[in-house]
Amino acid sequence: MEPPSNANVSYWIATSQADERPPLPGEAQADLVVVGGGITGLTAALIAAQGGARVILLEARWLATGTTGNTTAKVTVLHGLVYSELERRHGRETAWAYAKLNQLGLDTVRRLATELAIGCDLGEMDAVTYTEDPERRGEIEREVEVAGDLGLPASYTEAVTLPYPVAGAVRLAGQALFHPRRYTLGLADALEAAGGRVHESTRVLDVAVEGDRCIVRTGHGSVRSERVIVATLLPVVDRIGLFARTAPSRSYALSASAPGTSIAAMYLSIDTPTRSVRPHPDPAGTKLIVTGEEHKTGQEPEPMQRFDALESFARERLGVEPEHRWSAQDYRSADGLPFIGRLDPRTDRILGATAFRKWGMTNGTAAGVLLAERVLGRSHPLAPTFDTTRLRPLVGAPTFARENLDVARRFIGDRLRSKPSLDEVRPGHGAVVRLHGRDVAAYRDTDGTVSSVSARCTHLGCIVAFNAAERTWDCPCHGSRFDTDGRVIEGPATRRLRGVDIKDE
Ligand SMILES: Cc1cc2nc3c(=O)[nH]c(=O)nc-3n(C[C@H](O)[C@H](O)[C@H](O)COP(=O)(O)OP(=O)(O)OC[C@H]3O[C@@H](n4cnc5c(N)ncnc54)[C@H](O)[C@@H]3O)c2cc1C
Ligand code: FES
Repeated sequence: MEPPSNANVSYWIATSQADERPPLPGEAQADLVVVGGGITGLTAALIAAQGGARVILLEARWLATGTTGNTTAKVTVLHGLVYSELERRHGRETAWAYAKLNQLGLDTVRRLATELAIGCDLGEMDAVTYTEDPERRGEIEREVEVAGDLGLPASYTEAVTLPYPVAGAVRLAGQALFHPRRYTLGLADALEAAGGRVHESTRVLDVAVEGDRCIVRTGHGSVRSERVIVATLLPVVDRIGLFARTAPSRSYALSASAPGTSIAAMYLSIDTPTRSVRPHPDPAGTKLIVTGEEHKTGQEPEPMQRFDALESFARERLGVEPEHRWSAQDYRSADGLPFIGRLDPRTDRILGATAFRKWGMTNGTAAGVLLAERVLGRSHPLAPTFDTTRLRPLVGAPTFARENLDVARRFIGDRLRSKPSLDEVRPGHGAVVRLHGRDVAAYRDTDGTVSSVSARCTHLGCIVAFNAAERTWDCPCHGSRFDTDGRVIEGPATRRLRGVDIKDE
């Protein structure tokens, strides 16, 4: 597999190999097309195929090189302070449903990894949410109480295996960790063994419904199928406006050798800046995976400083030297719950899931199960709580309004902002410049060559911003990202930024 051209390659991608799958060879037919080869899509595809459906999975780039290949990969039901948050906002029943959904995800990962004998270093480990701030101990105690009331084996502790003391922590025993890319590639092998087809380098451009068939259009031909599951992080087919009910945020990650480390649990701090640390049993010696430094996609002017801050934390507080480093994004909904269900209000033929709030190993796996069950004609008791068409008008309304205000501000404000001239773009940097009345995203290579594309995001037209840490154009509205030649890296956009010949300008 050719590594992503302009990204910082994650430890998971660097330590897993897969045979490349050919693109879609032309017209095809299926019972189900799954769009997206991350943990959500591959779980849905495999379960549907095991249930007898003829499945074709289409992946725009390479399997498990999206967020699934760039995650921290804690497989746990303990998600920060999620239970006290959900209980406060939605009541106990919804918090309980969230716990059940994620327990389904955890159990499914364990079951599939074991039954399929996937070599993904699946192990058991406790998960811990902690604070170093004695003033926040009450929040920790509250999480222990709510999680306990929901039936989770949560306990309060101040004894941790970190190299620094904490003021209080929630411990959830018996959670899991694994190598996320090896696991997901194992699902792909099992899908093919169950009769499914997998095609990489096949970007889905559009899905139309004609009578009792969906037409899935790609640059390599179309597939006619009864149903489609869109599992592209934020769905690339979205006729119910999930893009306006979610927000993307990026986080930064690194791996480091830590032979003989005392760290023996999966840790997450609730303090600012947030830090996440977990060990991984690499054959060459234990590694630590460290993540943090979250910010809204396309809205960080100095992303290199995020990497620097995380690296300083690794050196100074964990005593390890960073090796691989990378960054990735995920979406969060206004009401804090994932969306799982219809992507078109008029039909049950196009389904999808998103908004895993950086907990998609379990949320995404469970979403895959629910979506596959729906395709197989079976209803799931948890489905209504997470349905994409749910109405929760009051909870999350201020966040929702703020997010949309922010998008509107970016849409208008970024057009009016004064822009540098092309001459001011330094080698190795990019900027949106104004040329003959148009916003142009210009990148000057280190040898001085300029690549120039339209700065208008092909999703809904916001102006992209340069990400100096990854040399990409990132959209501040809904998180689409493009390389310096304008090719889509991640959606919801499906079309590249239009090329602009600056000589013509
Ligand atoms: C830094 C970070 C740390 C995290 N840590 C954890 C953790 O410890 N535990 C946890 O549970 N979760 C964690 N998460 C969240 C978790 O990684 C994600 O929620 C999960 O990987 C999402 O999986 P997915 O399959 O839905 O999306 P992805 O893995 O992004 O897969 C989507 C796929 O769709 C493809 N695609 C996109 N557009 C198209 C198109 N038009 N046509 C065809 N294919 C397309 C993409 O190329 C991609 O491969 C973390 C997230 C981040 C960002
Ligand atoms: S991602 Fe929606 S406008 Fe760019």
